[in-house]
Amino acid sequence: MIGPNINSVREFNVIDTIRSQLESLCPSVVSCADIVVVATRDSVVALGGPSWNVLQGRRDSASAGLNAANSNLIAPTLSLSGLISAFLNKGFTTNEMVALSGSHTISQARCTTFRTRIYIETNINSTLVASLRGNCPNIGGDNNLSPLDMTSPTSFDNAYFKNLQNQKGPLTRTSGQIRKNCRKAN
Ligand SMILES: *[C@@H]1O[C@H](CO)[C@@H](O)[C@H](O)[C@H]1NC(C)=O
Repeated sequence: MIGPNINSVREFNVIDTIRSQLESLCPSVVSCADIVVVATRDSVVALGGPSWNVLQGRRDSASAGLNAANSNLIAPTLSLSGLISAFLNKGFTTNEMVALSGSHTISQARCTTFRTRIYIETNINSTLVASLRGNCPNIGGDNNLSPLDMTSPTSFDNAYFKNLQNQKGPLTRTSGQIRKNCRKAN
């Protein structure tokens, strides 16, 4: 099974750098978990988004948990009802889930996750398709990255939601299903 978000998270070196600077000033006080959350808030602010107070005091796990991560992370292939219940299991309402998905305004996706959308599906803006195909060939280039918000990829704004309403979303939850149907048809 391919774990959710496999090979997706990067830039751990940024966290490591912050961590080593903190450790030299103030050893064994700030957890990596807190660093991640504060760095996230600061990144959002740096890209023009809102600010918020981060409650601190998270403690780092003493061990890494691949299985727990794979079973708790939200899989990109989930259906809408699957997404709603996965977030509900973590205490999020559907409205909160939609708001959180707005973080895609500064996200990137790998070619392999939207190839079906730009070569088979038709309910997507053709200008966007042409642009996405430029960096995502029909064969190969699986790990090539494209922004999920093509309009303003490095601004934390609401363009991601506006784009979805205008058929300008690179991802669709039906991609996995269509791929399966194609395989059956072949
Ligand atoms: C597709 O997007 C382009 C660029 O934003 C826009 O000019 C065009 O009108 C859109 N096409 C449709 C059919 O909405």
